[in-house]
Amino acid sequence: MKVYITYQIPEIAVRLLKEHFEVEVNRGKHLSKKELIEKIKDADGVLCLLNNTIDAEVMDNAKRIKIFANYAVGFNNIDVLEAKKRGIIVTNTPDVLTDATADLAFTLLLSVARRIVEADKFTREGKFTGWEPNLFLGCDIKGKTLGIIGAGRIGKAFAKRSMGFDMKIIYHNRRRDLEFERDFNAVYVDKETLIKESDFISLHAPLTDETYHIISEKDFDMMKETAILINTARGPLVDEKALVKALKNRRIFGAGLDVYEFEPQIEEELKSMDNVILLPHIGSATINTRNEMARLAAENIIRVLKGQKPLTPVV
Ligand code: DGY
Repeated sequence: MKVYITYQIPEIAVRLLKEHFEVEVNRGKHLSKKELIEKIKDADGVLCLLNNTIDAEVMDNAKRIKIFANYAVGFNNIDVLEAKKRGIIVTNTPDVLTDATADLAFTLLLSVARRIVEADKFTREGKFTGWEPNLFLGCDIKGKTLGIIGAGRIGKAFAKRSMGFDMKIIYHNRRRDLEFERDFNAVYVDKETLIKESDFISLHAPLTDETYHIISEKDFDMMKETAILINTARGPLVDEKALVKALKNRRIFGAGLDVYEFEPQIEEELKSMDNVILLPHIGSATINTRNEMARLAAENIIRVLKGQKPLTPVV
């Protein structure tokens, strides 16, 4: 059987898969949809990335395909209903990237609040001429209200990281999670309350029809002027044009972004703003995490092509 890997990922995946199958890896640039279709037409399994769109057209042309193993926890790039209809299995990589992603979200929170990137730039530019009472005044963290939208694995791991800061946690989710409320003293609120009361809002929901633009212009208008928005989930959760406006008008204090509405394109104006930190989608980017993601994606393919149940199916 043949497995196609759509981009270079840690070699552990290639090694594991090669023990069982013929394996081809794209070691060049990211593939266009047309190239992807051509490459996977005789593949039994595909290990794909979040920037590969896997829709009905791709599936139509992949006649032998039994599994798409996404190298990500999010799987909005794959039409899972279409896969289900055709009996194709889709897997993702949950758990192994939870801590790395929560760490990055908290790093962004602290960095925006304390204006770390701006201050670093200032220092490197030789502008530091001595201690200044008013230099880079930021926000306190302790005792503030942390609003979490999406209390899944990563949302909870993010909450855990806030414990040392004595923050009040409020959250909004599809459903209440009593264990989370008990363990973190978290309070379930409706979205509007969360938007109005939070000092920091962090997004940890998957991208679905329901969560698309969950943060819109109306929401920015309701936020505190001192609010900070963190998005390490998926770009389209936020109306990016509305975010630009809110940052430009100093309607909120700042934002920390790892993902973008039209990734990899970024609203041009964001790039010149000092109240936003922009990262290139590196939530899960630690050496160990990426190795574990590769191992898990490969294990899923091996299991499915050997007729066993995958470890982490989404369909
Ligand atoms: C994911 O896994 O969904 C991240 O966005 C990439 O690590």
